[in-house]
Amino acid sequence: MPRLIDGLDTGSWRRPHVVMVMGKGGVGKTTVGLRLAYELASEGLRVLVASLDPAGHLLEYLGLPGPLREVEAAPGIRAVQYEVEGLARRVAEEYSLLLRRLMPGLQALSLEKAVEVIREAPGFEEEVFLRILSGLYERRDVDVVVVDMPPTGIALRVVSLPRLHLFWVERLRELRERIVAVKYAIANALGRRPEADDPVLRKLGELRDRYSRLQAEIADPRRTSVVAVATPEPLPVYEVGVIAERLRGHEIALKMIVANRVLGERAEALGLTGIEKQSLARLEETRCKLSPPPSLSVIAHMGRPPSSFEDVKQLGGYIVKVRHGCSES
Ligand SMILES: Nc1ncnc2c1ncn2[C@@H]1O[C@H](COP(=O)(O)OP(=O)(O)OP(=O)(O)O)[C@@H](O)[C@H]1O
Ligand SMILES: [Mg+2]
Repeated sequence: MPRLIDGLDTGSWRRPHVVMVMGKGGVGKTTVGLRLAYELASEGLRVLVASLDPAGHLLEYLGLPGPLREVEAAPGIRAVQYEVEGLARRVAEEYSLLLRRLMPGLQALSLEKAVEVIREAPGFEEEVFLRILSGLYERRDVDVVVVDMPPTGIALRVVSLPRLHLFWVERLRELRERIVAVKYAIANALGRRPEADDPVLRKLGELRDRYSRLQAEIADPRRTSVVAVATPEPLPVYEVGVIAERLRGHEIALKMIVANRVLGERAEALGLTGIEKQSLARLEETRCKLSPPPSLSVIAHMGRPPSSFEDVKQLGGYIVKVRHGCSES
């Protein structure tokens, strides 16, 4: 019986390996993520399923109350649903304290106001997701983390953020180095002892190290696999094309495409054969344009919506095929 993990290079993985599941809302990201977790745990790997998608149904699926602290959801599978709002608030507080320390002029702004301003800043949500992701790469107690990613637009911005941060941090470091040099020269000219350590430069140095490590982890196929899911319909398939394109731009490999809820012969009775065929052909085109091409896994429609972990086990019988290269027909 074909397995989804046959489409991934598990043999080359370094631990913890992060599998990011992306795709349009409702296509089956949570289902596919759980199925992957089940297959990986069956191989004896310790798996953590982490949902960053506030609308995701991970908890319902596992019959767990939410939002939850991490729990053992099934043998070898831990699960956690992140509560992004609360985290966002804490990160915003942290930033406003830091800002007030670095820029004393901001003391006039109440802490509450500063937190609010930061919380609403463009890109802030992505920053919070990035922090969570960064923490997941540091988990030494699991072998694999399967991440149920937020909606595509946000997910793509999150994975491209380390590079963007690095760009800014480098520019800021250059600026700060110039300021420090001037401060040094002034202190010397006045016959004062210049300060040996600059806290801003130190902080920027820490940030640069953190983001370059994260950037390297995300772009390393031994540490990260991205899986894009689509149902055989125009919009989900289009979105996989966007994911493929954007990841390529960031030198992040798309490892596997999953075509989910494929009707096959049943499409005819519903008059959907044309749409389904065209959509699958589009997926294949997207896949084979990439080098190396990601694998393609096809999962048939179960005939009913899977809604429990038991159903996720049953889903194995609906995995139609897992295809590697592009020369085969
Ligand atoms: N192969 C399948 N056959 C039949 N139904 C399926 C299949 N895969 C998923 N479903 C059903 O499709 C619906 C969406 O699946 P799921 O919740 O996994 O998608 P999602 O992409 O995570 O959605 P969201 O964006 O809302 O988080 C669910 O009702 C699920 O039970
Ligand atoms: Mg989901």
